[in-house]
Amino acid sequence: MSNSGKRIIIDCDTGIDDALALLLAIQYPDWEILGITAVSGNVPLEHTAPNCIRICTLAGKKIPVYAGAAQPLYRERHTAEMVHGKNGIGGVELPLGYDVEHELALSYLTRIVHANPGDIEIIALGPLTNIAQAVLTDPHFSEQVGHLTIMGGAIHGGNATAAAEFNIYADPEAARIVFNAGIPMTMVGLDVTNRALLDYKIFDRWRNSDNAVVRTAGEILYSFRHFFDGIEMEGIALHDPLAVACVIDPTLITTRDLFIDIETKSPIASGKTVADELRVTGKEPNISAAVGLDLKRFLKLFIEAIEGYSQGVPGSLIRRGRGETKLVF
Ligand code: BDR
Ligand code: CA
Repeated sequence: MSNSGKRIIIDCDTGIDDALALLLAIQYPDWEILGITAVSGNVPLEHTAPNCIRICTLAGKKIPVYAGAAQPLYRERHTAEMVHGKNGIGGVELPLGYDVEHELALSYLTRIVHANPGDIEIIALGPLTNIAQAVLTDPHFSEQVGHLTIMGGAIHGGNATAAAEFNIYADPEAARIVFNAGIPMTMVGLDVTNRALLDYKIFDRWRNSDNAVVRTAGEILYSFRHFFDGIEMEGIALHDPLAVACVIDPTLITTRDLFIDIETKSPIASGKTVADELRVTGKEPNISAAVGLDLKRFLKLFIEAIEGYSQGVPGSLIRRGRGETKLVF
């Protein structure tokens, strides 16, 4: 694998697939995950922030979690309990091993990026409200972020509406600010994440695991399955885990450099990521958008990482070291 030794911040709205993405990220031995910033999205912030802690506790890690925006920049909150359940993780109950930090996400993001110019990789898995606030607040933030990988948007299509992907739809003004901020960015959108399907058979197997992490991953995913009863699906789309995996191993995707802006006004296309595929705007590309996916290698990486929690043997992705909390069940 490439891209070792990175210093990472994960900004997320945990969320079923965010939970799986966190479990994957924690398994990658070469990363230093400095902090997790929570944002309102799939469910309100009062659930997303503690959910990040619940997942870290489950994985035996104590990564600081900072509470961010409880509302989009300018609009009403749009959540997705229908998909993620009222508590955001499909009704699965997990212990809360430690507290949310006193410092708020905006202060943390600007402070840590300022202290480590060019060195921090942010992976954004929810609406872009926290990141936009940092761009608006700190004039140096955009030039000092090392790289930003976004799960969100699509060159073609949508899932919240026919035109827009959920994370962008939930806060289009924030997305517009971030996409136009000049940060080096990769967009891992529905064009590839809708292809990243995990077969139902796999998480059915995980639900019967002796290991608490693997079993919980199976239960969280299983809760999601009911949403698709009656809809023909070959599996569940691993949107957020794919974005994390692309930072672990960028060769999992192929990308295209494009100028992409965000529609914020249209009643039918609000939140659409408008991609200038034919370069008709004359604008320089502002983002590398994922267009191709090595599905087999991604699924291998993801499944091995989750199942690695039950192995903990040399050669697996699991790392035991300082900063761990002991999981008590
Ligand atoms: C994205 O929206 C959320 O529901 C998921 O957590 C993911 O980040 C997929 O469109
Ligand atoms: Ca998410």
